[in-house]
Formats: sequence, structure tokens, C-alpha cells
Amino acid sequence: ATNRTFTMIKPDAVQESHIGGILGMIEAGGFRIVELQKINLTAERAGQFYAVHAERPFYNDLVKYMSSGAIVAAVLEKDNAVADFRTLIGATNPANAEEGTIRKKYAKSIEANAVHGSDSDENAQIEADFFFGSK
Ligand code: CMP
Repeated sequence: ATNRTFTMIKPDAVQESHIGGILGMIEAGGFRIVELQKINLTAERAGQFYAVHAERPFYNDLVKYMSSGAIVAAVLEKDNAVADFRTLIGATNPANAEEGTIRKKYAKSIEANAVHGSDSDENAQIEADFFFGSK
């Protein structure tokens, strides 16, 4: 069945004018963009979004980074959306990302890794609601 995932284009990729390139790869990958918003996160909101990582050593830096500039939030629709999107973006650490993936092309480091992708259907719903509300 068609289902949905959630993505953010992160501040470094927005700052470096890769919104179009990344959305182009997403559409070429067969995803339909069903919600789209460019927005600045406060540190508080960024911290809420990544609350599951609150105990991780990289959390404070991540919150600072994610509130350092505009991000683009989107909801994407495709069969098998969550898994197929994680394939399209590649590994969290761009050093491990496959050729042809968004992170291979655009990510600069394990933190500034260009895009976020939900890791489960449940989190996709939670993350989409965080930006776009329940619909
Ligand atoms: P994302 O998939 O959005 O989920 C958590 C984010 O934390 C991750 O992408 C990176 O931007 C950031 N991060 C920084 N360091 C690490 C790390 N060592 N492991 C995982 N994520 C990290």
C-alpha cells in the first residue's frame, strides 16, 4: 500500500542551495511531495524533534546545528516509503553512503548529513505531525 515518510533538508544543504537538487532526487526516486515547508527551528523545537537522542553525546551539537539556519520539512508518499527513502538517502555517515544516494552527493559529515529520514512508519507519523499537524 502507498504510505508516507518524513524528511528534512538540513541547514548546511539549504544554505548551500541544494534544496532543488535534493527535491529533484526525491521526485526522481518516485516519491510524491505531499507537504512542504521551509522553516527555522528554535533550539527548543530542534531539541524536541530529536528528544529520542537526548542522552547521546552528539545531542547538544545536533540541536545547535539544526537550529543554525533554515530547514525544509516534507512529507513524502510512495509504496514502501520509509524503507525506500532510507535507501535513497544512504548511510547516516556519508563516508559509508553508497554511490547515487543523497548523502553521498550532498552530506559533509555525520552531523551535517544533508537530510533526515524517518526510521519507522510510527516515527514518520509522529515527525510529520510535529511540523504539519494531524490530518
Ligand atoms: P538523523 O538521521 O537526522 O538522526 C540523528 C542525527 O544526529 C543524524 O541524522 C546526524 O545529523 C546527527 N549525528 C551526529 N553525530 C551522530 C552519530 N555519531 N550517530 C548518529 N547520528 C549523529
